[in-house]
Amino acid sequence: MSKLLAVKPLEKLLTESQEAGEHSLKRALGPMNLITLGIGAIIGAGIFVLTGQAAAQHAGPAIVLSFVLAGVACAFAGLCYAEFASLIPIAGSAYTYGYATMGELFAWIIGWDLVLEYALGAATVASGWSGYFISFLQDFGIYIPPEITATPGTALVFMNERWMAVSTLAAGTDITGLPMATGVFNLVAFVIVLLVSSVLVFGIKESANFNSAIVVVKVGIVLVFIGIATHFVWTHPEVVAQNWKIFIPENTGTYGEFGWSGIATGAAVVFFAYIGFDAVSTAAQEAKNPQRDMPIGILGSLIVCTILYIAVSGLLTAMVSYERLNVPDPVAVGIDVAGIGWGSFLVKAGAILGLATVMLVMLLGQSRVFYSMSRDGLLPAWVGSIHPKFRTPWLSTIVVGSMVAFLPALLPISDLGHLVSIGTLFAFVIVSAGIWILRVRRPDLHRPFKTPWVPFVPIMGIGVSLALMASLPWITWERLFIWLAIGMVIYFLYGRKHSKVQQALK
Ligand code: ALA
Repeated sequence: MSKLLAVKPLEKLLTESQEAGEHSLKRALGPMNLITLGIGAIIGAGIFVLTGQAAAQHAGPAIVLSFVLAGVACAFAGLCYAEFASLIPIAGSAYTYGYATMGELFAWIIGWDLVLEYALGAATVASGWSGYFISFLQDFGIYIPPEITATPGTALVFMNERWMAVSTLAAGTDITGLPMATGVFNLVAFVIVLLVSSVLVFGIKESANFNSAIVVVKVGIVLVFIGIATHFVWTHPEVVAQNWKIFIPENTGTYGEFGWSGIATGAAVVFFAYIGFDAVSTAAQEAKNPQRDMPIGILGSLIVCTILYIAVSGLLTAMVSYERLNVPDPVAVGIDVAGIGWGSFLVKAGAILGLATVMLVMLLGQSRVFYSMSRDGLLPAWVGSIHPKFRTPWLSTIVVGSMVAFLPALLPISDLGHLVSIGTLFAFVIVSAGIWILRVRRPDLHRPFKTPWVPFVPIMGIGVSLALMASLPWITWERLFIWLAIGMVIYFLYGRKHSKVQQALK
């Protein structure tokens, strides 16, 4: 047992983080790249889609408070990530931090768990991306054969000039006599994952530049919304008074349906919107000055997005009654209310761009975590091989990209977003606990960034993450356990036997 809990010596990790040469990752990212990487991963389906649903079903206008709550929860974990990422600037993120503090078994569990956040996160977002993209093309009268736009067996119908899934229609909608089709393979989602993966193969600087360019546009679109909405709210105080008359709608008698419990459940739902700031830490080995810049990237992106989210959700519920927001494109509904004809076009463009960079950074994170696991012997050596020219973990990027591409193409995974959240929250628990453990065990270490108020902040990081996990449905927990059980089998069949840390103990 003690062998299973063998920790990877910090001194060894620090030496590894300083490796250079053609077989190492390239240090090319400055502080702005890292902030935009974080924003690239954060702003996506969460704000563009989930805000409306969470307001309509759980919190009403108090969804603003849900965003504050989820933002505070992320801040606790974010402060812990910032200390680790500057102390141990290794591509493995939470996996590596677990290895240094809780031992190999925990490290493996957390590395395996991160697949839920990064690979499954990218697949979930690819599914959403294809929906927006197909809808955008249809707005312009461009139709892709419906069979290659949906997962196998999805029933599709052509009505109101567009193909749509029968399952999304209101109950009782009469579709007799309308053209029908059945999905075979979601080629659109498949192709976008491959395209994004190929950008990642060509170099970290290229990927970061691509990401930064898109982030500028997507933040621009969010700011345009904020500008239009602020003007509307300013000139229509009577609408705001009406929509915000009851800021916290009364609880219906069921936990999570409005009232204070609704705010908490709303926070668990919109937590998805914040996922991604931690992915910055997987780029630690590619940062020019990780000691200084990692905390800037992680906390900077989190702060920017929290402010934007609070503004967007507040303005949205001030403009539109929350009861009308249970739609896939709530931000577009807000812009329509302001009488801006091109609003829906703008929001769809924002979502298409926004979701593309979320996938980019998630896939980047996944290949970096696998790279670190392979370097430690827990995964085969080829997974960690670096392309001599591009200096990226090209093989794992291609393999991860190809496997992830099949998920949204074949499986209706849009409901797996909860699994992404639980996987991420689990990593937050481990990282927060790790900071506390390391402060006790190694108080001597030079910490370029120190998490304030230890152990209060780590305890809050653990507590709030567990509370958010607890509010997710039981089926999500079951899936998490099944996933971790599969991981255990692989670890005992492969990882344990090939682990470099274990070999050094023999
Ligand atoms: N935060 C990311 C999104 O909202 C995962 O799409």
